[in-house]
Amino acid sequence: MSYKSYFNISYRATELNTSLNKGTLHGIPKLATKTEMSSPITSRFFRAVHDQLLPALFGGPRPVQQRSFASDTEGSQGVTLRRGRMEDVPGVWQVTEEAKWNMHQDVVETHFKMSNNGWIIAEKDGNIVGCLLTYKFNDDLRTAGHLIMSPKMRGYGVGGKLMMTFLEEFGDANVHASLTKQMFDTYERYTGVPLSMGKVVGKYSGVFKNTPLPPDAERSYRLLDVTKIDQSDLIDYDASYHGVPRPEKLKLWLGQTTAETLVLLEKGKIAGYGSIRPAMNGFSLGPLYAENTIGTMVLFKALVDLIPRDSNVDILMPYANEAGQEILKANESTVKLFDTYQKFALKCYSPPPKWNNVFSLFSNACGKC
Ligand SMILES: CC(C)(COP(=O)(O)OP(=O)(O)OC[C@H]1O[C@@H](n2cnc3c(N)ncnc32)[C@H](O)[C@@H]1OP(=O)(O)O)[C@@H](O)C(=O)NCCC(=O)NCCS
Repeated sequence: MSYKSYFNISYRATELNTSLNKGTLHGIPKLATKTEMSSPITSRFFRAVHDQLLPALFGGPRPVQQRSFASDTEGSQGVTLRRGRMEDVPGVWQVTEEAKWNMHQDVVETHFKMSNNGWIIAEKDGNIVGCLLTYKFNDDLRTAGHLIMSPKMRGYGVGGKLMMTFLEEFGDANVHASLTKQMFDTYERYTGVPLSMGKVVGKYSGVFKNTPLPPDAERSYRLLDVTKIDQSDLIDYDASYHGVPRPEKLKLWLGQTTAETLVLLEKGKIAGYGSIRPAMNGFSLGPLYAENTIGTMVLFKALVDLIPRDSNVDILMPYANEAGQEILKANESTVKLFDTYQKFALKCYSPPPKWNNVFSLFSNACGKC
């Protein structure tokens, strides 16, 4: 099967609406008294002590340096923060592209369709200069991600204001999210409390040439296009991984016109599903969930076979996934670790029910896996 839209990628140039809100920058409350800033070494020391010793000795929380929010820097003058709307897609895409996040404008558009109201947008002189995305699944589960400032606007305090706006609005909820490792100390300074640490995910990127499948392994499985499957069965299957059903979000994510989704069947029952879609450089594969190692490999191979040979593929892979580790080993000369993400929750991290069977996340922003 050839990849249906590989040669027809449309960078939708929806006109950017220039009649933007002209509100003022959100006031940043003084939440904490400034204490001495920790050096990275001190911070790492606290983390090491917390991770290895404190739980065993005291079971108590580790200390977190707090931060004061006093002054605006010059560069943040004239910046407004506001809710996102559909016509922001090109502006958010531009910021995403500038940050070299390997996505496609279609993915940004899909995120808007899934949560139009969840975007917090920073704009200056009518241009989008930063963004942050939140998702509400229910009163108990919110997730967040896609925090980006345009490179020319970094270091002026606006990214911090996006974080603060988010915390003002959602800080009482048990938001699940992920951060690059280097942002962890920063984010704890903003929340002022230790984050509840979760699982670790690697972003891998490269050409997957080999799938270490035993001979004849594919015989026990059937693969079907997602359109041939009863959608309620798929929603239930997805919920068995994510914990919380997400029917609308799933429909939009898998229904993205440039995405291909395959469902794995074993003895007539769903045993996995996976989706692949174009990115700026090659393709991005996610989610991929399957019941076991062989099933994961069968599905992975089938998805990679849909795209042109030797294309770059990005995956967001939990370290715990056994098939993932084997596939990485079989491709170690052509696939590299690009970044590491630490999952966390503002209050209490609860892992998704079948975390070990997650080969690649749905997305880093929308959902727990
Ligand atoms: C992270 C990012 C949004 C920060 O935006 P910004 O406008 O430069 O941030 P600010 O100037 O408001 O600084 C906010 C805080 O973030 C810290 N910070 C900024 N960049 C950082 C980085 N790369 N790593 C760790 N901390 C960082 C600053 O030290 C500051 O901390 P402080 O307020 O306690 O002094 C921006 O650097 C960015 O877009 N980076 C690329 C995308 C990214 O990494 N997103 C986060 C994914 S988890």
